[in-house]
Amino acid sequence: MSQGERSTNTGHSGKRHRGELRYEGKAKRVYASSHPGEYIVEYKDEATAFNAAKRGQWAGKGATNNAITAHLYPMLEAAGIPTHFLEQLSETEQRVRAVTIIPVEVIVRNVAAGSFSKRLGIEEGTELSRPVVEYCYKSDALGDPLINTDTALALGWATEAELTRVRALALEVRDFLVPFFLERGVRLIDFKLEFGKLPDGTVILADEISPDTCRFWDAASGEKMDKDRFRRDLGGVEDAYAEMLRRVTSPALG
Ligand SMILES: Nc1ncnc2c1ncn2[C@@H]1O[C@H](COP(=O)(O)OP(=O)(O)OP(=O)(O)O)[C@@H](O)[C@H]1O
Ligand SMILES: [Mg+2]
Repeated sequence: MSQGERSTNTGHSGKRHRGELRYEGKAKRVYASSHPGEYIVEYKDEATAFNAAKRGQWAGKGATNNAITAHLYPMLEAAGIPTHFLEQLSETEQRVRAVTIIPVEVIVRNVAAGSFSKRLGIEEGTELSRPVVEYCYKSDALGDPLINTDTALALGWATEAELTRVRALALEVRDFLVPFFLERGVRLIDFKLEFGKLPDGTVILADEISPDTCRFWDAASGEKMDKDRFRRDLGGVEDAYAEMLRRVTSPALG
């Protein structure tokens, strides 16, 4: 092992060595793995909002988001949605399939909130009569601007077949998650997904699903339990994330 590498003993798949840092984002680090076709993702304690104009961090944030994603992705797989998730390796690390990320963020909205409410003048909390799928260009430099599918096609970011698949999978994720969270006392207001391509072109769900990437409102009180607590300085951010992990890992309410 060269400097900076370390080995991680995995539960049932043998030893993996964490290789060179491939990409450092705002919330995660992506490392090469000694196993071809895989990456090791490390979740960081850093939190950012408004394209990193606002920054914070707290101990346990990475572990919480890692645990939530590691709990949800196998359930999505079991529901027939292919994902990059392979195995949780440690409190903050997981083993994933390496993909080429499609540079389009996919937002699924069930209830008006955030930028949708602002852009259209629709009060936050307004139920949408059907889910709305929106697309943004993944570009920190441009602040992830809203696009449509024609833009993605014209600029070669994805093919028609890939976009059709992405939309179908995003709605399948919604159909699984909405009742899953409701059974745990949480309304899933909206969420952001990222998809990637395997070497053979198969489109799979990548990245994460966590309070960083979803809006969660307590079904009883309406209280926000997601990154809006950080974005809007509402306080109680750590507690909200911890409570979301507890809800995700609890059995359905009767
Ligand atoms: N399976 C995967 N294979 C390759 N890259 C991945 C995979 N899963 C997630 N990624 C990428 O890892 C990067 C790090 O994630 P992080 O959430 O920290 O990024 P970010 O700061 O949100 O920035 P970005 O705008 O690049 O998403 C992201 O670019 C994400 O698209
Ligand atoms: Mg991210």
